[in-house]
Amino acid sequence: MLVEKYKKMLSGKSVIRQLSEFATARGKEIGYENVFDYSLGNPSVPVPDKFTQVMIKMLKEESPVKLHGYSPSLGNPEVKEKIAASLRKRFDIPYTAEHIFPASGAAGALSHAFRLVTEPGDEILTFAPFFPEYHPYVDLTGAVLKVVPANTEDFQINFAAFEEMINEKTMAILINTPNNPSGIVYSAETLTRLADVLTKKSVEFGHTIYLISDEPYRELVFEGVDAPCVSKFYDHTIMCYSFSKSISLPGERIGYLAVNPACEGAEFMVPMCGQISRGIGHNCPSSIIQMAVAEVLEDTSDLSVYETNMNLIYKELMDLGFTCVKPGGTFYIFPKALEEDAKVFCEKALKYDLVLVPSDSFGVPGYFRMAYCIDTEKVKRSLVALRKFVETEYPDRKEIKC
Ligand SMILES: Cc1ncc(COP(=O)(O)O)c(C=O)c1O
Repeated sequence: MLVEKYKKMLSGKSVIRQLSEFATARGKEIGYENVFDYSLGNPSVPVPDKFTQVMIKMLKEESPVKLHGYSPSLGNPEVKEKIAASLRKRFDIPYTAEHIFPASGAAGALSHAFRLVTEPGDEILTFAPFFPEYHPYVDLTGAVLKVVPANTEDFQINFAAFEEMINEKTMAILINTPNNPSGIVYSAETLTRLADVLTKKSVEFGHTIYLISDEPYRELVFEGVDAPCVSKFYDHTIMCYSFSKSISLPGERIGYLAVNPACEGAEFMVPMCGQISRGIGHNCPSSIIQMAVAEVLEDTSDLSVYETNMNLIYKELMDLGFTCVKPGGTFYIFPKALEEDAKVFCEKALKYDLVLVPSDSFGVPGYFRMAYCIDTEKVKRSLVALRKFVETEYPDRKEIKC
């Protein structure tokens, strides 16, 4: 008999993926250059050239047996040491190789983190708006994902709702800053307050509440924005990092989990990840990719296009009278839709070949997400379509001239 829980998931497929498939199909009809596809967060800039050169050199000079063999089950020790050294230098936290576990992207790191600190039935709290894939990531561990309603003023944490929802069953808090979908970066003030609540509640409930920090957008921060390192605020932090966005490597599935050395149980966590991997069949990310990323830890792709795109889109949204919190990073923007039902709004946008993602699955109704990891030239053309869409469908809205 087929397992019902997976079968049921077939009817709840990712809205983002569905819209991306729609955009591809529409592209076949009218040319993909004419579809303003803001659906998927797939980087639009290439990996740093240094990464390509490192790969070529390794393939030419290194032993194929070493390059393509299994890596140790806790990750390549030299790679782990290099990652730890880079984190020590950048964030002044005494990580060593023993605190690092290479994993297949942030998704892989998160899958381990959830299993480290929750039993089935335990609760993980996250904050809206949130990445919808958190549901399958958490649900399939048997833990329960609870979502704290958004603070729509600025998309920092809604502390009143948070303090009401946190309870004895809460074993971990899951945060994502810079944030998908809002593009917002949590301030030092927010992180300090969050750490204070977790410290207080850990004492009250008699167990450590862990902070799982999902950080694939750590390097995608715009000029003048301060993006504080989450692990510096709270000892019991498990960082889940990914190279998918910072060096445009999502297809290679590489990232890592980094346990704060002062975290309760830190000495057991990476060895336990090795055991978790055995069970979920996800052991040992690609040897060659581990070795290659270790050579570009201080590099990023040229990420400047994302800020250029954001500024263009943000300005036009403001001109058109949208309400929107200005992103501090990522390649996402999350404006309020011009009618209550964001699905209806996004459906109308499709008539103008604008592929926008309604916010419902991000845990906030009435908004939409644009993933602007596309060419700037296309962004400019899309803004003409956006203006036409808004002026035709919502002629009575209030237009603000900046
Ligand atoms: C917030 C967030 N977390 C995790 C992931 C998964 O990233 P990865 O490709 O590194 O597994 C994504 C991917 O888009 C994301 O946006």
